[in-house]
Amino acid sequence: MARIEAEVGKPKGGLMKWIDDRFPFTETLKYHATEYYASKNFNFWYVFGVLAFVVLAIQIVTGLFLTMNYKPSAAEAFASVEYIMRDVEWGWLIRYLHSTGASFFFIVVYLHMFRAMLYGSYKKPRELIWIIGMLIFFVLMAEAFAGYLLPWGQMSYWGAQVIISLFGAVPVVGEAIVELIRGDYSISDITLNRFFALHVIALPLALIGLVFVHIVALHEVGSNNPDGVEIKEHKGADGIPLDGIAFHPYHTSKDLVAIIIFLMIFSAVVFFAPDMGGYFLEHANFEPANLRATPEHIAPVWYFTPFYAILRAVPDKLWGAILMAGAVLLPVFLPWLDRSRVKSIRYRGWIYKLSLTTFAISFLILGWLGTQPADGVYVLAARIFSILYFAFFLLMPYYTAIDKTKPVPERVVYHG
Ligand code: HEM
Repeated sequence: MARIEAEVGKPKGGLMKWIDDRFPFTETLKYHATEYYASKNFNFWYVFGVLAFVVLAIQIVTGLFLTMNYKPSAAEAFASVEYIMRDVEWGWLIRYLHSTGASFFFIVVYLHMFRAMLYGSYKKPRELIWIIGMLIFFVLMAEAFAGYLLPWGQMSYWGAQVIISLFGAVPVVGEAIVELIRGDYSISDITLNRFFALHVIALPLALIGLVFVHIVALHEVGSNNPDGVEIKEHKGADGIPLDGIAFHPYHTSKDLVAIIIFLMIFSAVVFFAPDMGGYFLEHANFEPANLRATPEHIAPVWYFTPFYAILRAVPDKLWGAILMAGAVLLPVFLPWLDRSRVKSIRYRGWIYKLSLTTFAISFLILGWLGTQPADGVYVLAARIFSILYFAFFLLMPYYTAIDKTKPVPERVVYHG
């Protein structure tokens, strides 16, 4: 005991002091971990931020190793991916980790965003965390889109063809934009080269930079929680929020359990179902790009299909593109569209609960419709669910203002 007291009371010296005198190492650790107080009532929904970090790390490390053997040229790209799969030691594992990681990135980020909608985490004072999050989402979409061209398979080529040609619908400057993206008169080796540059350098750098500011903004205002109560409003004599517990070791130890369970599920997919029945790796992409043969159905990977369904629900190309862009952009404005006095769904009325449920179901059904052929009843269904998708956002200022809310408790409710 006496020894422990002596240790604690011991003046700091040695290497740590040397570093701290030159760089705020201990101070940073305290600010972001050991003295960052987050609410004690975090639940299941609060693990996806950390999991997004884990997937980001997986993507960067596996991407680095893929780049060592991949050839970014139209003549060699497809064969180099086959070479990675068959001849490079552990190449198949690295590639499946990366391709499965792309899908899991979106699963994790969609659930992370949905959490913010459940608990009103985008509302004051966290608007900027949300907006930075949306920027992360846009960069992530661009990153996935650029990456999908790289294997130079049938769907890489024709998927890119469909999406890039959408910009051609813009009046006057449309064709110029399309040429700027492609760098050529058609999707070619030049396009593949620039997409490669974007995928391995520019977009990952933007992603890492944005994630950094996302966390800085979060730690400035503090995390929300499932009750939507501001824990900083009730502090003890020591200045620590009464309902807060230190991020490290209390939240990190719980997060570690979540990471282990996540890695078990992730590896099960990597080892037993890496193509996920054609949803994670589309079957048409096992054939090399053929500029003279369009695949029967062109569909993007599942994480883009809700927006793709909206695009195809509209008969006019320009309006389809505008509505698709609108569907992607609208969530940016949630902090101002939501006029409810309370944050968490726990204290909202039935209108918001019904609206959010309808929105989530519409998003999932649109995702499925985007993988189906665009005719008959599928188009009709896509129109109905697109309307429901837009109604959730556009009618929000009205229904959140009239929705009857329940009184929010002063302190967080903890069910241990
Ligand atoms: C690479 C992607 C991302 C990473 C690594 C990331 C990381 C994190 C982490 C570690 C947290 C704190 C833990 C938690 O609350 O779960 C957090 C909170 C948050 N994130 Fe993200 N995030 C990402 C993308 C996004 C996106 C796309 C959005 C929304 C558009 C978003 C919105 C938020 C919000 C609103 C919070 C505060 C939540 C609260 O306090 O209740 N994030 N993020």
